[in-house]
Amino acid sequence: MNIRIEPPDERIIAEAAEHLGSSRVVGMPTETVYGLAGSTFDTDALELIYRMKGRPSDNPLIAHVLDVEGARSIASNWDDRCDRIAAAFWPGPMTMVLERSCDVPPVASGGRTSIAVRSPRHPVSRTLLSTFGGPLSAPSANRSGSVSPTTARHVHDEFESFGDESDLLVIDGGSCDIGIESTVIDLTGGCVRILRPGSVTREMLQDVVGTVEDSTPMEQGDSPGTRSRHYATSTPIRIVGTASEIRTAASGHEQVAVITTSDAAGFEHVFRLPDDPTGYAEGMYAAMRRADGTGSELIVMECPGDGPSWRAIRDRLIRASTD
Ligand code: TXA
Ligand code: MG
Repeated sequence: MNIRIEPPDERIIAEAAEHLGSSRVVGMPTETVYGLAGSTFDTDALELIYRMKGRPSDNPLIAHVLDVEGARSIASNWDDRCDRIAAAFWPGPMTMVLERSCDVPPVASGGRTSIAVRSPRHPVSRTLLSTFGGPLSAPSANRSGSVSPTTARHVHDEFESFGDESDLLVIDGGSCDIGIESTVIDLTGGCVRILRPGSVTREMLQDVVGTVEDSTPMEQGDSPGTRSRHYATSTPIRIVGTASEIRTAASGHEQVAVITTSDAAGFEHVFRLPDDPTGYAEGMYAAMRRADGTGSELIVMECPGDGPSWRAIRDRLIRASTD
């Protein structure tokens, strides 16, 4: 596939909107991770997204909208809880699973009667949404199961070898400042339930809507993209809680890449991350990709934190390290 990375100027946004209007897909920056976007109402574009990602056809997509009005046009059970959640967290890294309107094609949500909706806050995704003038379905722009992209170059690396004659336009919006995918919550039942943890925590949601159930089991059918073995590098990953455990975790392996918040003397490939959850999340996927590129046998990754603001990070690392 021929991949063009272009700056987010007016001409490129117009060209991207034109691609989206003719059943093509576009690499779109968001504040969480880059998405592979196609029109929510265009089944050819949606099928192309599934093919490019190698994504199972039952794993539903997130539709991106500009605002509440856009969300209401594709979901049928928007209620007062949704208003409160949108007022608190939109635009931003919060995805609501609602009932899908009957005029939205089933393929937009993997054949489900529900649809996931989010209003991103990255200025480039917002300009693209308003120029295109309709909802954009966009999963993370990586091959299914692999690490989510946080730069335009990562998107390039994911699809470079996709065997297709067509071009892919990737809009370069810089590196994503959150760096970890949105929180996904289910609002199709009576209670609010977290399907995928993200930077909007359960505690933050509870302040807005009261009790929130947290059910992100490793093996479940409710949100197929949250099954185990996901977000994974090709090199196996071992997680440790403190830097002092790195050496033991690495023992028996010759070539080890280390991702840590402090020093790891004696290792050839060491990638540093900040020790606060915001900074860690922002750099985590890029560090995993770089460690994966070192040709090591093992990646040992220190995840120092516990508690609510580390919850989404831990969730991703556990899945990345599950065989
Ligand atoms: O931050 C994000 O959410 C990024 C950016 C691009 O917006 N997108 C993203 O999409 O992470 P994706 O497709 O990689 O992950 C979507 C998650 C999956 O776990 C999927 O199973 C779940 O949302 N999901 C989507 N629609 C759903 C639905 N109707 N019911 C239950 N889960 C759903
Ligand atoms: Mg994904």
